[in-house]
Amino acid sequence: MFEDGARMKQELGEDKVFDFSLGNPCLDPPAAYLEALRNELREGRPHRYAYMPNAGYPETRAAVASDLRRKRGTPFEARHIVMTCGAAGGLNVVLKTLLNPGDEVLILAPFFPEYLFYVDNHGGSPRIVETEKDFSLSLARIEEALSARTRAILVNSPNNPTGRMYDEQSLTRLGELLGEAGKRFGTDIYLISDEPYGELVFDGAELPNLFSCYTNTILVNSFSKSLSIAGDRLGYIAVHPAGEDPEALVDGMVFCNRTLGFVNAPATPQQAIRRTAGIYVEATAYEKRRDLLCRGLGDAGYRFTRPEGAFYLFPESPVPDEIPFVQELLEAGVLVVPGTGFGRKGHFRIAFCVEEKVIERALPAFERVFRRYRSA
Ligand SMILES: Cc1ncc(COP(=O)(O)O)c(C=O)c1O
Repeated sequence: MFEDGARMKQELGEDKVFDFSLGNPCLDPPAAYLEALRNELREGRPHRYAYMPNAGYPETRAAVASDLRRKRGTPFEARHIVMTCGAAGGLNVVLKTLLNPGDEVLILAPFFPEYLFYVDNHGGSPRIVETEKDFSLSLARIEEALSARTRAILVNSPNNPTGRMYDEQSLTRLGELLGEAGKRFGTDIYLISDEPYGELVFDGAELPNLFSCYTNTILVNSFSKSLSIAGDRLGYIAVHPAGEDPEALVDGMVFCNRTLGFVNAPATPQQAIRRTAGIYVEATAYEKRRDLLCRGLGDAGYRFTRPEGAFYLFPESPVPDEIPFVQELLEAGVLVVPGTGFGRKGHFRIAFCVEEKVIERALPAFERVFRRYRSA
């Protein structure tokens, strides 16, 4: 889709193509973060670009732990944090550390498509569990899927591609189910919470704290979206201090960070984060875009669940097979992604991390194509 978009922009002109295909943040990083980067480069610290401990700089890990302590109330220390190459790097490190061949990882559909490859990378076996029609958790289906082979469940809230944020009550019950299943099967089942959109929460809501729902929780986080630095590849893993042997888990992760070839997370962004932990982009900028898009698509007749966070909308296609519909949107200059790749047919994903004027200009095309399908 991305390459189609680039070609179409060349052929038709930038202003005739509306590219909602990629989750690439459109906001600038916060001024304080950029200033911290400049200061870091100005100060002539020796060995700035040298190798470092595989877990990251101790001061950066301490700053991340302190921000997490403040937000979640869980007693994290630097030793519970491993700095990673984004959430993608973090997820691979966690899965490599946890999985034995054939172990199952529950993945909730719709899902970030890379999950399937990440689990496969480390000999695991993905087991897809559908969420409800409104994308909330189906605790009954999760309970049914848990078995002696389950090693972990991957939870992503706020969610890509739906924007859904799971509520505290369901997450607490999920924690109970995992605990009960672990006892029944004599295993440790891990909850991996992939939260790159954790700072992008709308309507003044608060992200439920998974650490208080279940102790064998591992947080994988990233600054890609929360600071708009996706290209700089910085993220981290945080292990619950009260989980099963957190020291052994962190040792394993540090080893895997090295042996998977990441070695360590990038040096300069880590130094900037040390100075600015707790500063993020304004979620309200994406909330405004959500409102604009939801109003326009709602008026045009589209059906969707209103996103509570992240920067994705996952509407229903007007026909059960969304592929020809997405193709027709493409011909009208609008690039979106079919839902099939995210594990839910009959839907499509709109990444609204674009300039507001792109949304405004695209709405007539969204409406035109929808009307054509409705009258056909
Ligand atoms: C749900 C989810 N997890 C992980 C990632 C990877 O993020 P990062 O850029 O931090 O590696 C993304 C990126 O879009 C994502 O949407």
